[in-house]
Amino acid sequence: MSFVLDPLLVLESLVRTATVAAFGPEYADVDPLVKRSDRADFQADLALGLAKRTKKAPRAVAEAIVAQIDVEKSPILEKIEIAGPGFLNLSVRASYLADATARALADERLGVPFADEKETVAIDYSHPNVAKEMHVGHLRSTIIGDALARLLTFRGHEVIRQNHLGDWGTPFGMLIEHLEDEGVAKAEDELAVGELSGFYKAARAKFDADPAFADRSRKRVVALQSGDAKTLEAWNVLVRFSKKYFEAVYEKLDVTMRPADACGESFYNPRLVPLAEELEKSGKAVISEGALCLFPEGFKNKEGNPLPLIVRKGDGGFGYATTDLAAIRYRLDELKATRLLYVVGAPQAQHLGMVFQAAKQLGWLVSPNRAEHVQFGSVLGTDKKMFKTRAGDTVRLVDLIDASIERAEAAVGEKANTLDAATRAEVAKIVGVGAIKYADLASDRVKDYVFDLERMVAFDGNTAGYLQYAYARVQSIFRKLEGVEPGAIRIVEKEERTLAIAILGFGNAVRAVESTLEPHKLATYLNTLGVAFTSFYEKCPIRDAEPEVRASRLSLADLAAKTIKLGLSLLGIQVPDQM
Ligand code: ARG
Repeated sequence: MSFVLDPLLVLESLVRTATVAAFGPEYADVDPLVKRSDRADFQADLALGLAKRTKKAPRAVAEAIVAQIDVEKSPILEKIEIAGPGFLNLSVRASYLADATARALADERLGVPFADEKETVAIDYSHPNVAKEMHVGHLRSTIIGDALARLLTFRGHEVIRQNHLGDWGTPFGMLIEHLEDEGVAKAEDELAVGELSGFYKAARAKFDADPAFADRSRKRVVALQSGDAKTLEAWNVLVRFSKKYFEAVYEKLDVTMRPADACGESFYNPRLVPLAEELEKSGKAVISEGALCLFPEGFKNKEGNPLPLIVRKGDGGFGYATTDLAAIRYRLDELKATRLLYVVGAPQAQHLGMVFQAAKQLGWLVSPNRAEHVQFGSVLGTDKKMFKTRAGDTVRLVDLIDASIERAEAAVGEKANTLDAATRAEVAKIVGVGAIKYADLASDRVKDYVFDLERMVAFDGNTAGYLQYAYARVQSIFRKLEGVEPGAIRIVEKEERTLAIAILGFGNAVRAVESTLEPHKLATYLNTLGVAFTSFYEKCPIRDAEPEVRASRLSLADLAAKTIKLGLSLLGIQVPDQM
C-alpha cells in the first residue's frame, strides 16, 4: 500500500507541479512551503521567495502558479486564493477528507506506508552498568531508544537492539573480592532486588579503607583479564544477577529490550588484541607517548593539538574507546547495519564523534551508511538542579516508576471511581508508566528536562494521560452505543474538518521522527490531534445526532482513537479501555 493521504503532502506536490509548469523544470526542487493556516485550511508561501529568481513581483509569481491549477478538476482543492503580497490560501474539499479518512480507517497501518528503502538499523541504547544501579540517566536512553526501535520497526526497517552493557573493567576486581567475602547467596539476595548501589558502595568502602582488600582487588583485575576460570565464574555471577535485575526493570517499564539483545563490553574482549595489532601493523594507528593512538580529523585539544583516540594504553590495557571501535566495526561488518544509532547522553558527544570519524578514516563507515549520536540532556529536579534524592543520592529508576504508578492510581481513582480495584491497578500501571515515558519523549531531547511527577501524571496539557483519556472516552462511547454501527464519513462541521486534517497528518509525523530521530515531533503531533479530538467531542454530539451523522461521527472518533493508540504505541505507551 502506498497512497498519500495527508492533504499537506498532496498540496505540496500539486503546488510544485504548478510551479514547474509555470516556470520550468529547474523549479522542481522548490519547497512550496505549505503549512496549516487559520484563513483557509492551508497556505503556501513560496511565491515571496521566488520573486528574485523569477524576476517577477511575488503577486505575479502567485498568479502564474495559480493559473496552472484547475481547481474545478482537482480532487483535493476546493478553492485557491491569493492573499496579501502573494500567499496562496488553499481550501480542501470535504469529499477529499471524507475519502482519505475512510481509506485510513480501512487500513490497519492507518495509511502510514512502509519506508521506501528498508534499512538495517542497530540501536545502542539503555546500556546500564553491571553491579551498578540503573539511574535516571539510563532512563532517558532506555525510553528514547525503545521508542525509536518501535517506530523504525513499524516503518519496516530491521532493527537490531544493542545493549552495550558496562560489564567489564577495573571495578570488577573489588566487586569480585566483595562477592567472595559475602558469599554468592547473600550477594544474589541483594542484587536481585536491585540493591546494586549498596553492593557497589560496600565494595568501594572496603577498597578505600582496607589496603589488603585493595591489594586483593588489584590482583583480581589481573586474574580476570588473564581469564582465570574461578575469577571468571565470580564475574559471571555478578553479570547474571545484574542482568536479571535489568530485565525486571525493562518489564516494569514495558520496554522491548530482551536478554538476547545484550552485547556488553566484554563481548568485544577477544577482538581487542587483534584489532590493535592490525591497526598498528597497517600504520593506521601510531604510538604516541607510549600509547597506540588514532588521530581522527577535526578533533583538537585546547592547545590546538590533535586529540588521540587511544587504541591501546601504554601499559598494554584497553579502554572504553577500543571497545567502541570494535563495536562499530562489528555492527557494520557482521550485523550488516547501514544506520547506527547511539542513544547516549550529550557528555559523550566528543567520544562518539571521534569513534565515528575514526571509523570513516579506517574505511569501515562508508556513505550512505552512517552513525548518529542520538544525544539527550539531563534529567533535572523541580529545583532545576541534577535530579537527586533528598539525601543527595542518585534516584533509582524503579523507585521513580513505582512513584509514578502510585500517583496515577490516585489520579485514576479521582476520575473513574467506578472501576473495580483490579482494573484500577491495571489502568494505573498504564497511566503511570505512560506519564514517565511521554514526559521524556515530548520534550526536545537535546534539552534538559524537569522531572515533575505532578505535571506528568496530569490528564490535561501535553501529557500521555490527556491522550489516554481521549482514547478511553471513545471506547466508552462505543460501549454505550453498543450495536450502533459506524458508517460513511462526512465532513461538515469545522471541528470535523480540523479533526480529519489532524488525523491525516499522522504518517508525516512518523516520517519526521524517522529522519530526525526526534520523538517529540510525534508527541507534539499527537497532542494536536488530541486537542482537535476534544473540540470535536465537545461541539459535535454523537449519541443524539441523526443516524447518518452519528454513524459518520462514530467513524471519525474511531479513527482518531486508533491513531492515538497507534501513535502512542510507537512511543512505547499503552492505552486503557477505560479510565
Ligand atoms: N555504559 C555506558 C554508560 O553508562 C554507556 C554506553 C554507551 N554506548 C557505547 N557504545 N559507548 O555511560
